Amino acid sequence: MTASVSTTRTSRGKLASTLDESQLAEITELFAQRRKGFSLEAPFYTDPAIFKVEMEAIFGTHWLFAASIAEVPEPGDYVTLDYGPHSLIVLRTDDGGVNVLHNVCRHRGARVLTAASGSTGNVVCGYHSWTYDSEGNLIHASSPGEIDFDKSCFALKRAHGRVVGGLIFVSIAEEPPTDFDEVSAIFGPYIAPHDLARTKVAYQQDIIEEGNWKLVMENNRECYHCDGHPELACSLFPTWGLTDELVPPHLEEVWERNTAAKAALEERCARYGLPFEVIEELDTRIAGIRISRESLDGEGESFSPDGRRLSKKLLGDLRDFRLGRCSMHLQPNSWFHFQSDHVITFGAYPINEHQTLVRTTWLVADDAVEGVDYDLEKLTHTWKQTNIQDKAFVELCQQGAGSPAYQQGPYMKSEYQVEAFINWYTQRVLEHLA
Ligand code: FES
Repeated sequence: MTASVSTTRTSRGKLASTLDESQLAEITELFAQRRKGFSLEAPFYTDPAIFKVEMEAIFGTHWLFAASIAEVPEPGDYVTLDYGPHSLIVLRTDDGGVNVLHNVCRHRGARVLTAASGSTGNVVCGYHSWTYDSEGNLIHASSPGEIDFDKSCFALKRAHGRVVGGLIFVSIAEEPPTDFDEVSAIFGPYIAPHDLARTKVAYQQDIIEEGNWKLVMENNRECYHCDGHPELACSLFPTWGLTDELVPPHLEEVWERNTAAKAALEERCARYGLPFEVIEELDTRIAGIRISRESLDGEGESFSPDGRRLSKKLLGDLRDFRLGRCSMHLQPNSWFHFQSDHVITFGAYPINEHQTLVRTTWLVADDAVEGVDYDLEKLTHTWKQTNIQDKAFVELCQQGAGSPAYQQGPYMKSEYQVEAFINWYTQRVLEHLA
């Protein structure tokens, strides 16, 4: 597909007030001189000033995955989302949409909602009980003897929210990138058959990785390290990301199995009218994406030791368990696996320049019964183990980036998606700093 790049607002926002001109010039130079095909220089993973730039140029500008609607199934349900200095309330509305509000009280700035999730009518600050409606309007702020003031000037600040196939995306930019409309249209046909509106959360796991958020994403974009994922390699072909000429001798048999499974999956997708083509625009559009439907090993149904289903209930109106996985990725911080029997969402949320929260959520059909239709431990085993292994890899790299001996190393051909992620990242930051 031809890339279509729309423009986004490019201003230094608050950076000019938090970093001095010489710091900004130095950082701009570092980005501009990025050596293509090589890992980033150490400060990208360790420097708090670069983290500040990223919080504005990346996380303050682009669309981020926040949650699925299964996490906020009823009106009034909410989740809070924290990254860097930001905290958002994602609130389900009566009409099935979402409102996204900055979680910063307009009285004296307290966090308004402190739980990770819950349900509320009005939004009440716990400090002096200023009360906001679901739109963020201030509706109650009384104090004995207080003169009246114009409450309409003190609503919670709003951010943007979009629901795409049951996934909630947010942006705190004044004018978020407009090519997300095109991306939504691409994603829709792939994920709609899984009908997230009829799913529920089976399990959610938050882990804090002692590593910069980019190391988390770099690790996610390649399978060069998949020998380190014995559980995952039972179902996910460890040849992911390779082409014919790149297959090492020890994976030739796996490659042949993958090729046969791919052909069978494509025939099945054609029969059911499911899209499977790879659409890869990781660094050729503002909202960098990759989506495809790919075969799984063994029975080809799910992320289990033998590839068999992990929940007995098919999602949505799907008619076949053997549909591999729809794999979806959105820059800068999310990736997804849609199987016939369950969905897994992943979001990486930076805490600071050396820590990242990784949130993994397993969704099953809303009528699936734990212990009857699925075993929670079996459902979550493969990716719980994979997450632990990935956390260790990320942390090893963070330790290395902090060493005076660290030097940039070359990406292998099979790491082309890591290179694309870094391309996307440096382009977006340079646009912002321009
Ligand atoms: Fe929220 Fe005072 S800071 S009511």
